[in-house]
Amino acid sequence: MACDSTLPPARRFLWGAATSAYQIEGAAGEDGRGPSIWDTFCRIPGAIADGSSGDIACDHYHRSESDLDLIAELGLEAYRFSIAWPRVQPAGAGAINPRGLDFYERLVDGLLQRGVQPFVTLYHWDLPQALQDRGGWGARDTALRFADYAALVGRRLGDRVASIATHNEPWIVAELGHRTGVHAPGLRERRLAMQVMHHLLLGHGLAVQALRAVDARLPLGIVLNAAPVHPASGHAADVAQARLEDGLLVRWSLDALMHGRYPADVLEHLGDDAPAVRGGELDSVREPIDFLGINYYSRQLASADARRPGPTSRVVTDMGWEVFPQGLTELLLRLHRDYRLPPIYITECGAACRDQLDDGRVHDEARIDFIRQHIAAVERAVDAGVDVRGFFVWSLLDNFEWANGYRKRFGIVHVDYPTQRRVPKDSALWYREFIASRKQRRA
Ligand code: FCB
Repeated sequence: MACDSTLPPARRFLWGAATSAYQIEGAAGEDGRGPSIWDTFCRIPGAIADGSSGDIACDHYHRSESDLDLIAELGLEAYRFSIAWPRVQPAGAGAINPRGLDFYERLVDGLLQRGVQPFVTLYHWDLPQALQDRGGWGARDTALRFADYAALVGRRLGDRVASIATHNEPWIVAELGHRTGVHAPGLRERRLAMQVMHHLLLGHGLAVQALRAVDARLPLGIVLNAAPVHPASGHAADVAQARLEDGLLVRWSLDALMHGRYPADVLEHLGDDAPAVRGGELDSVREPIDFLGINYYSRQLASADARRPGPTSRVVTDMGWEVFPQGLTELLLRLHRDYRLPPIYITECGAACRDQLDDGRVHDEARIDFIRQHIAAVERAVDAGVDVRGFFVWSLLDNFEWANGYRKRFGIVHVDYPTQRRVPKDSALWYREFIASRKQRRA
């Protein structure tokens, strides 16, 4: 399917589900895949809550045909997945691994054969270890290598995919990977984290330029995690803290992507920890994009003092994240007000629940409620004039939830890891009916 406009092919609202390579594929050492920073990180004792890794995960690499059938049976209109950079370019530079690219080509073709639109993400956190050994995202060169990798994927798959997102959640990569150290590569240094943040955004801009050179019509974008940041109390220090955290979480990326500058208040706060930015780099970051992906799970509460943690009577998911659907409407209205944005996709939204498999069923009412409420929140924003084009549930399958290992289940499809048996939960059955009814309404 060729895309013959600069916008995603359909203007109608798309219903989908999302996954990422390291979280589902497994086959970590197979068919020429190189090691990634997550392979390394998982081997550090204590790094992953259950001591596990993505070595096998959902074994999707070997089960992609039946997983594609599952996607079709659920009636999904779009499927968001990521490409493992070390599978297609094992050392992150130079030699291409044809078997890796073949896998993703089969996946894309399999989706198209089933009438499902492929939404590709190029970087969902699995940096080739060889690049980490040369400084990772702390090194400017990684941004250049990323643009090369983007172009090689674009040349092979660009004529058939509905969209290509460069990064998934750069803020998480910088903050959790390089400041708090709970994600790969497990580093803890704020100055480095901010330099990484800049190089991720630079890599995005260079990748967009490289992909445009491959095919000017490719629908390109980036996926950010975003949330309204609320002060935990009316205390002036909490209000100021909320403004700062909003600057780091939301304005840092969007001011750079949309206006080519970093927010002055955040730069001032960072002082010597502000990243080194070379002339012209922010012009690359500002390269126009065709869509913005937003991942939303909860609001963020900001407190300048741990003794003021904010409201206590909160409904939370199994991650301990507050259920706060109205925050998604608030966020979308705010982004629409403050920036001239391209069309938006909600590229992730979902809940971890303590699911029980009983007699071949998982009655995950809480997840259904969560998804239903968040869809309603998106629709309120659409009614108010925000151009949102699709909603992707996180996640299609239970999978490797990073530092939590396999203890947290986000899937609408249950995975029994020892047997790799997939069982659609009640939420999957509900979502299938919901999508069918929306299709009918459209017809
Ligand atoms: C997001 C990630 C995704 C998943 C969900 C729960 O931050 O993009 O891979 O872990 O959180």
